[in-house]
Amino acid sequence: MSDDSKVLGHSLWGGRFSAKPGAIMEAINASISFDKRLAAQDIAGSRAHAAMLGATEIITGADERAIQAGLTTIEAEMSGGTFPFRVELEDIHMNIEARLIELIGPAAGRLHTARSRNDQVALDLRLWVREACDHTVGQIEILQRALVSKALAHADDLMPGLTHLQSAQPVTFGHHLMAYVEMLERDAGRFKDARVRMNECPLGAAALAGTSFPIDRAMTAKALGFDRPTANSLDSVSARDFALEALSAASICATHLSRLAEEIVLWVTPQFGFVTLSDAFTTGSSIMPQKRNPDAAELVRAKVGAILGALVSVTVVMKGLPLAYGKDMQDDKVPVFAAFDALELALAAMAGMIGDMAPRHAAMEAAAGIGYSTATDLADWLVRRLGLPFREAHHITGAAVKQAEGLGVDLASLPLDALQALNSGITADIYDVLSPRASVASRRSYGGTSPDQVRAQSAQWKNRLK
Ligand code: ARG
Repeated sequence: MSDDSKVLGHSLWGGRFSAKPGAIMEAINASISFDKRLAAQDIAGSRAHAAMLGATEIITGADERAIQAGLTTIEAEMSGGTFPFRVELEDIHMNIEARLIELIGPAAGRLHTARSRNDQVALDLRLWVREACDHTVGQIEILQRALVSKALAHADDLMPGLTHLQSAQPVTFGHHLMAYVEMLERDAGRFKDARVRMNECPLGAAALAGTSFPIDRAMTAKALGFDRPTANSLDSVSARDFALEALSAASICATHLSRLAEEIVLWVTPQFGFVTLSDAFTTGSSIMPQKRNPDAAELVRAKVGAILGALVSVTVVMKGLPLAYGKDMQDDKVPVFAAFDALELALAAMAGMIGDMAPRHAAMEAAAGIGYSTATDLADWLVRRLGLPFREAHHITGAAVKQAEGLGVDLASLPLDALQALNSGITADIYDVLSPRASVASRRSYGGTSPDQVRAQSAQWKNRLK
């Protein structure tokens, strides 16, 4: 059918039309440039549908076999890059169906029995998003493993713990990295939860109202790995909340990656100097020869823009759409694809950077002691040893910090008599708690930053992620 492909494309639905679509109509209507990414899902859906049509004797066994064989050829053309995509055929569904007609003739025309592009595209996108969620969960695990092994290797390394980006209390580098393992686990959980809700098959809803043919929706649902068919045909063709939910999970995950990326950007600046990244994840400047820029981290930090943007975009497309299908929904695909492409890259780059980064222990440890970071330990000592109420201990410690500031020393270097002037009960063993290392070692509460805790937690995670 190469005579006039415009007439061909038109001919799949053109029975009541007498003229071809105008050029602008074709341009705004065609989705093949992006929905060709649904080819594998579309073919899988057609295979399941054809098998069901055969099993229920809605079509003959011979026709079903011809359709399956034609689809095999199309699959080969897709993977070989020889499939003849035609923009005048609008979308992936009609491109494949028209090609099937070319390949096997009239039997192909029976494939669309009891089916509409509305349930077809709802199915294809669900399959694509489901796969994207599974893939993302796998990538999250890879990143978690990278974090856990870095954390185990650096469970003892001190670093400043910050609140308000100000010196707060010393922590360990391992503890800091493990915080992201927890966040990522919740991210993975959101993708898994979304998958459970999305795993119902819309195929068989047809245009919007179901079909008069005796189809077996349970059969197609099972063949395509769904838990069950969707229960309402109107909902089946008009629901895109599965995509919104996956994009929400993606946005939250990207937000976490962005926070970690921002920390890496800070850590590698010479002013922090906490970690170094190798040539593999940095770039130079075309003018300033000394530069080593953390571009990969900056780009991971930025990706949440595209991903959250996609969520907003699809939400606005769906908002106010009356049931059932509206062509507006065709515009869900570009943002969905873009979001998962961005997330895939961000997760891969982050896993690479975590594996690549080398902490600079001495710099981190020195920074951990800056800013009177053990002041809370001093106050806790006063409570524990002298039985003072915490509020009073807090007040005395504030005065000690003020003194140290005046003398230009840290808390551990304050003379004992200066401390005793604040409370006569203070004894020399208070110095045992004033070093960052002692501070960290003492924080043994469940989930705390002591190296023992961090090692135990990371070892547990290592096992869990095996
Ligand atoms: N390309 C369309 C989409 O992505 C397929 C469904 C078209 N359905 C229709 N009734 N025109 O939404």
